[in-house]
Amino acid sequence: MKTRIAIFASGSGSNAQKIMEHFNSHPEGEVVLVLTNNPQAYVLQRADNFEIPTHVFTRQEFYQTDEVVKILKNIQVDLIVLAGFLWLVPQSLLQAFPNQIINIHPALLPKYGGKGMYGDNVHKAVLANGETESGITIHFVNEHFDEGEMIHQAKYKIEPGDTLDIIKFKGQQLEHQYFPKVIEGLLKKVRR
Ligand code: GAR
Repeated sequence: MKTRIAIFASGSGSNAQKIMEHFNSHPEGEVVLVLTNNPQAYVLQRADNFEIPTHVFTRQEFYQTDEVVKILKNIQVDLIVLAGFLWLVPQSLLQAFPNQIINIHPALLPKYGGKGMYGDNVHKAVLANGETESGITIHFVNEHFDEGEMIHQAKYKIEPGDTLDIIKFKGQQLEHQYFPKVIEGLLKKVRR
């Protein structure tokens, strides 16, 4: 029995792409659904390319109903991966999947986390503060933005003259390198 993974993403989905590639004909895990709040998200196209089903939901559906939980339970999802998903996870979803929801964040938490800290906002703040290093954090999700138990961090150096695009690229390289492997390490732990 493979561990069944669902990915939530709000935008491009380059991390989702790496995860779908990694678990495409993998013996231990498979991506069974991609979910998004954004009907324009490029991640939907990426999922189609892998012939992985998708579900688009509204704010009302996500926060006022149990529809998303029902869908995930119906298809027996074991692990939920937030890969560039920008909405806070509601309590009902956290309770339905305890210790089974993880997130990736483009900084070394607890620095540069919290509401509004996503994507370019994070990198701009890192540069504005003259940091000499930054990195990525993969962590369990709780009811606060970017605060659950840490699973893995990786760092990169910031050189004098590095631009927003450069540090974004360095972070993205680390995300793509580590996220699928960290998920792989969790497969047995979260399986029914
Ligand atoms: C990633 O860098 C991820 O760390 C970040 O969104 C990006 C999504 O990129 N997530 C957050 O900022 C969450 N607070 P992608 O759509 O290309 O995978």
